[in-house]
Amino acid sequence: MSTSALPRPRTAIVVVAAGSGTRLGAGRPKAFVGIDTHTVLRHALRNVFAAPYAQVVVVVPAAHVGDARTELAEAAGDRGEAASVVVGGETRQQSVAAGLAAVWPDVELVLVHDAARALTPPEVFTRVIAALDAGAEAVLPVLPVVDTVKRVDGSVVVAGVDRAELAAAQTPQGFRRDVLQDALAGADREHTDDAALVQAAGHAVGTVDGDERAFKITTAADLERARALVTAVAAVPAVAASPRPAVPLPRVGIGTDVHAFGGDGTLWLAGLEWPGERGLQGHSDGDAVAHAIVDALLAAAGLGDIGIHFGTDHPEYAGAHAAAFLTRTRALLGEAGYAIGNVSVQVQAARPRFSARRVEAEAVLSAALGGAPVSVSATTTDGLGFTGTGEGVAAFAVAIVHPV
Ligand code: CTP
Ligand code: MG
Repeated sequence: MSTSALPRPRTAIVVVAAGSGTRLGAGRPKAFVGIDTHTVLRHALRNVFAAPYAQVVVVVPAAHVGDARTELAEAAGDRGEAASVVVGGETRQQSVAAGLAAVWPDVELVLVHDAARALTPPEVFTRVIAALDAGAEAVLPVLPVVDTVKRVDGSVVVAGVDRAELAAAQTPQGFRRDVLQDALAGADREHTDDAALVQAAGHAVGTVDGDERAFKITTAADLERARALVTAVAAVPAVAASPRPAVPLPRVGIGTDVHAFGGDGTLWLAGLEWPGERGLQGHSDGDAVAHAIVDALLAAAGLGDIGIHFGTDHPEYAGAHAAAFLTRTRALLGEAGYAIGNVSVQVQAARPRFSARRVEAEAVLSAALGGAPVSVSATTTDGLGFTGTGEGVAAFAVAIVHPV
């Protein structure tokens, strides 16, 4: 699609990236520090361009306009005509004002986003825009405060603070354009964020759900956290290459597995040990039921397959049982921002007889997945095929996951 075919946007996203990054201390402005092969700014822009269509204004230090233009051109793709770079100011508020000055006249809604919140997923932008569309003048994403909070005077605790009354502010913060513009024009002091500025000007500020991944990269430890998250996702090219849809939807996945009888020791299947039954062959315990579930979950989250995460180059899984696989799989999904809905798995086997232990298997598998429901069913094949002759077992699983 050519850019000229795109409608004039009614929304603009101002990405402020003109800070010096003193607390990070990386020797260059924070937005131009690498997370992996891409900078903080580039990651922020990747998510901005996966958000609903908008004019994009990037605000950077004067010395980095050229770098920023290159980053922007690469991130914008065919949306380059609706994207520009401007020079920021001494303070964040001045940088916001510089960005706003470059917003097209017919734009009605403005989102201000910290480049330092580089991993903010596109759905946060979608939520902010939806709240503005529903009539809010100003809205910001927030997360509940999980720590117990104290008011201190120097090194002495003065009082406790009820954390239920508190929320941690994130970006993008969204505004009706006139509200932000008037508040900036009338500002008599610096505010740490735009919501505070607009609130000081007398406007009501609403909230939408924030996202853990929208944390601000401020210190070296934050940069390490961002690197760990990006590396986990980058291990799976399919996910890095395909941004999530703007509207978060559940995703399904399918997994199958087959193992032959003839392994060492007793049988392990569906997370249970089956004394007296022949074991299955495999790098681990040969539990085809658990492996089919792992593949279904990884597929649902777009995280590749069992071979990538648990193959023979992961010797720690030699001989491992279902719980180890499933616990790790759930952690991988969590790092990628997915929670498990439910799992259904069917095993095809002449032996063992499942009916008496089906509930037990469901409980063990579900526990290893943090309580997500797992349904187990079993069938024989009338003596047909390798499962019918008792050469091995086959398992088929489907899973549904949802973004969190
Ligand atoms: N910012 C800006 N212009 C400024 C100051 C900050 O555009 N004069 C931007 C930063 O680039 C960042 C966001 O505002 O994306 C939040 O600011 P902060 O995390 O404080 O970044 P820095 O000011 O760069 O870091 P520090 O305070 O550690 O120097
Ligand atoms: Mg700062």
